[in-house]
Amino acid sequence: MSVLGDGPVVRPRRLRGTDAMRRMVAEHRVHPADLVLPAFVREGIAEPVAISSMPGVVQHTHDSIRKAAAEAVAAGVGGIMLFGVPEESAKDAAGSAGTDPDGILQSALRAVRAEVGDDLVVMSDLCLDETTDHGHCGVLDAAGRVDNDATLERYAEMAQVQADAGAHVVGPSGMMDGQVAVVREALDDIGRQDVAILAYTAKYASAFYGPFREAVGSSLKGDRRTYQQDPANFRESLRELELDLAEGADMVMVKPGLPYLDVLADFAAKVDVPLAAYQISGEYAMVEAAAGKGWIDRERAVLETLTSFKRAGADIVLTYWATEAAGWLRRDY
Ligand code: PBG
Repeated sequence: MSVLGDGPVVRPRRLRGTDAMRRMVAEHRVHPADLVLPAFVREGIAEPVAISSMPGVVQHTHDSIRKAAAEAVAAGVGGIMLFGVPEESAKDAAGSAGTDPDGILQSALRAVRAEVGDDLVVMSDLCLDETTDHGHCGVLDAAGRVDNDATLERYAEMAQVQADAGAHVVGPSGMMDGQVAVVREALDDIGRQDVAILAYTAKYASAFYGPFREAVGSSLKGDRRTYQQDPANFRESLRELELDLAEGADMVMVKPGLPYLDVLADFAAKVDVPLAAYQISGEYAMVEAAAGKGWIDRERAVLETLTSFKRAGADIVLTYWATEAAGWLRRDY
């Protein structure tokens, strides 16, 4: 019997024939609870302000962030990651607003916890870039360089203030050496062993953060290449991973998302803690821009990217589409 005469014996297409078959044999699927919504809350505004480079994403007021958090709960979303945008006049060299109990991030955390209680995992960005007048993720030394160890002292204080304000999880994102250890110690010192750390473990110096800088009104001139990782490096991420786990990270993250799926897949094979991927602002902007021009199918493109994170091994995906995508997923399953 010739294979050519009767055609192929093995036919993978048999399992692709219907929606029901494809659904049954799917190896990976995205669940709403896997998704975390990053959200911006801005001080001193009466109405939400649109972010032009992120169509559909806004800088929230206290009222509108409460509403967004309630919608996320209703959609079954797993968590929310809050970023505070202080008034320009509240920024200074030390990023004092980041440790002011009444600073915008802290008041937003309280507002969201008042709304959702424990029904949503409430996370806070632990970094100085949103609150410093120079826009760097740390404090500067006399020569204008980011001072690692002086920054750690600021992060320790931020961790305590954010825990007091109601964060279930803090996310140190400044890529300072030793940041996870310092944050863990600071939390434990005030008896907050219950607050978890989501470590930005492999965080690359990426061009795709562009729209985020608009979203938080960043004052940064220059770049973050002395502390964020070089996109050319892979082994360096393994070193960061070992350090973060040794320092007490409860969860680890790779950021950005799509350009670093190789790093994500490698981490997935190695770690025994939950693994997150952050689909960042520029990734969001690319899809929205192309979809807005009618060049790609928006919903399919979004779900395809989210699925790719799961396929690469992520347990958790931070995405600005979290609530909307959760709605699509609930409709489809
Ligand atoms: C630092 C931080 C950044 C993002 C999250 N946390 C900006 C940066 O490192 O420049 C970027 C997120 C995004 O682009 O969506 N606080």
